[in-house]
Amino acid sequence: MADAPLALLAELTHRCPLRCPYCSNPAELTRASAELSTAEWARVFNEAAALGCLQIHLSGGEPTARRDIVEIVAAARAAGLYTNLITAGVLLDAPLMGRLVEAGLDHVQLSVQDAEEAGAERIGGMKGAMAKKRVAAALVTASGLPLTLNAVVHRQNLHNLPRLIEIALEWGAGRIEVAHVQYYGWALANRAALLPTRAQLDEATRIVEAARAAHRGRLVIDYVVPDYHAARPKACMGGWGRRFLGVSPAGNILPCHAAESITGMAFPNVRETSLAAAWGESPAFNAFRGTGWMPEPCRGCEHAERDWGGCRCQAFALTGDAAATDPACALSPHHGMLAEALAEAGETSFRYREFR
Ligand code: SF4
Ligand code: FES
Repeated sequence: MADAPLALLAELTHRCPLRCPYCSNPAELTRASAELSTAEWARVFNEAAALGCLQIHLSGGEPTARRDIVEIVAAARAAGLYTNLITAGVLLDAPLMGRLVEAGLDHVQLSVQDAEEAGAERIGGMKGAMAKKRVAAALVTASGLPLTLNAVVHRQNLHNLPRLIEIALEWGAGRIEVAHVQYYGWALANRAALLPTRAQLDEATRIVEAARAAHRGRLVIDYVVPDYHAARPKACMGGWGRRFLGVSPAGNILPCHAAESITGMAFPNVRETSLAAAWGESPAFNAFRGTGWMPEPCRGCEHAERDWGGCRCQAFALTGDAAATDPACALSPHHGMLAEALAEAGETSFRYREFR
């Protein structure tokens, strides 16, 4: 069995006041009536701790859209987990912040959609969001909790990257994640509007490197690059079934947060299967574990244990076969699809995330 995962991503709900066109939630969003209860989440947290997890990321959708978010944080803390809240911040006020701190919250990761109010509101699809996020950041830092900003970057906000980094400093964040969009689910539907040009990508990389040097010791900058301009794929999830463990709002146990985009694949559910059994024995977690499943040209490739064949969700989204070599690899017979998508990019309007 693969080593136990160190962290659990708990997607508490798909409900969210924002409608970001690159949301990593599946196209078919789960309704509130199907969500796990507080008690079920508490059991999942205990199972995660027993499995060896040290951290929990409470995510969504918007996790604070759950009325029991304080009880959920308390349950994670009671299980002995370091608890990170991944939030858009627009529902956070002083009383809720106080109750979350009291319940044992350890860290907050706050998303920002753009550095300019108008851009942020257009991309997130919510009026007034930016002002609320500024208030949320102040509440977090005033409470003494560490703050990370998460900036998803793409064709329509990369011109503001220097300003996004300044905002992280102004709002008191110790870390900013500059994450290029990854293309599956909603982001794939909006790919023509989101894909950056090569020049934008190169400029972003230069800006990140300069900012890292300028703010060393004050701001950590994590940088996630897109692979449409690459010749080698990323080792997505650190390899399927090797590190990542997630639970969806309805309790599906996932080897990748986007795994439900692979239609036809069945996932174990916490209502019937323990996290340990899902991690160790389930067909879903073992489907692409290691290198035995790999097709040509991955089989026998010298990079096979470095990139693990790339991303299964991207392979499925682009080729219809989750077991294919990721088209981001220059050795894939489908690699030309990426250049075609880049050539077709330039759309300006979005298809916003919504419940169908
Ligand atoms: Fe990675 Fe497969 Fe490409 Fe080799 S052929 S570099 S293992 S994706
Ligand atoms: Fe699912 Fe890459 S996003 S494996």
